[in-house]
Amino acid sequence: MKHLKLTKPDDWHLHLRQGKAMSSVVGMTARQMGRAIVMPNLSPPVKTVKQALDYRREIVSALPKSSDFNPLMTLYLTDNTTRQDIINASIEEHVYAVKLYPAGATTNSESGVTNLSNVYLALEQMQKEGVPLLVHGEVTQDDIDIFDREAIFIETVLMPLLAKFPELKVVLEHITTKDSVDFVSSSQSNIGATITAHHLLANRNHMLVGGIKPHYYCLPVLKRKAPHQDALIAAATSGSPKFFLGTDSAPHYQNEKESACGCAGIFSAHAAIELYADAFEKANKLDMLEGFASKYGADFYGLKRNTEIITLEKRPWTVPKSYSFSDSKVIPFFAEERLSWRLVP
Ligand code: DOR
Ligand code: ZN
Repeated sequence: MKHLKLTKPDDWHLHLRQGKAMSSVVGMTARQMGRAIVMPNLSPPVKTVKQALDYRREIVSALPKSSDFNPLMTLYLTDNTTRQDIINASIEEHVYAVKLYPAGATTNSESGVTNLSNVYLALEQMQKEGVPLLVHGEVTQDDIDIFDREAIFIETVLMPLLAKFPELKVVLEHITTKDSVDFVSSSQSNIGATITAHHLLANRNHMLVGGIKPHYYCLPVLKRKAPHQDALIAAATSGSPKFFLGTDSAPHYQNEKESACGCAGIFSAHAAIELYADAFEKANKLDMLEGFASKYGADFYGLKRNTEIITLEKRPWTVPKSYSFSDSKVIPFFAEERLSWRLVP
């Protein structure tokens, strides 16, 4: 096969940053995706509808006039989020979800939730209004091994949460383990999950064998090939509508990743759909890409699917070494490596 035609995909989990950093990367997503769920973990975080709309305006003004890319905004859940904040979000057409960062779990999560019981009223309102809760699913206790944090989160936080709010719409974001795949697969239809391209294409060996590779460091951290990466590939390519595309593309300045304390995040917006196409082709499941990339996410959010068609061409190319990122550089996922598929502009 030389060409692959797909309904235009959407990215259901994306970090765009702000200012010049944002304007250096937003076009890469807008070129490929119809819509993206934009993460609110700015500093300070996007906590109110007003902040979300200001941020959206900033994003839209960085796009070329001809672009019809639609940024779907989210609010950052804190211990102080009120019922009224949720009501405001539910009636605002540009706000689509609320993000839960357990405090301390990842980049800019300091204002995150310290104890879920602090946000029960907000969660109750979200359940009532059908506002999805997007979850960074990792516990943060010091004594819990970083490779176990996702599995323990499911058991100790997510299951009790869903027992209390069984109708709450939840997206378990950027899942990395077989435990999450099994949990989501066996849940009701109000539970979905996003899967990144990097968790499909890489495992912890890529990060740790032959020297430590900071550009493979993200959270939740890459896990073992078997059983975890294998389970993610099986889930993404299964045709189950519970699993859909979310890149978690998270650009950081090169020097802040290549540091004694490098920050978490993998930048993949430069080649998002091409990376997924490679992963699906490796699994011999290219025919399953369109559902995962372009249909199931929209269905889960109760939105119309895109109607535009994109074309990928089998034309191997080498990913650049870096891209300019504000006044610095960002090192992309698969830098200087070959990808088989390329989006036809
Ligand atoms: O690797 C990550 N980077 N994981 C997250 O949860 C946040 C993200 C970021 O904002 O850099
Ligand atoms: Zn993220």
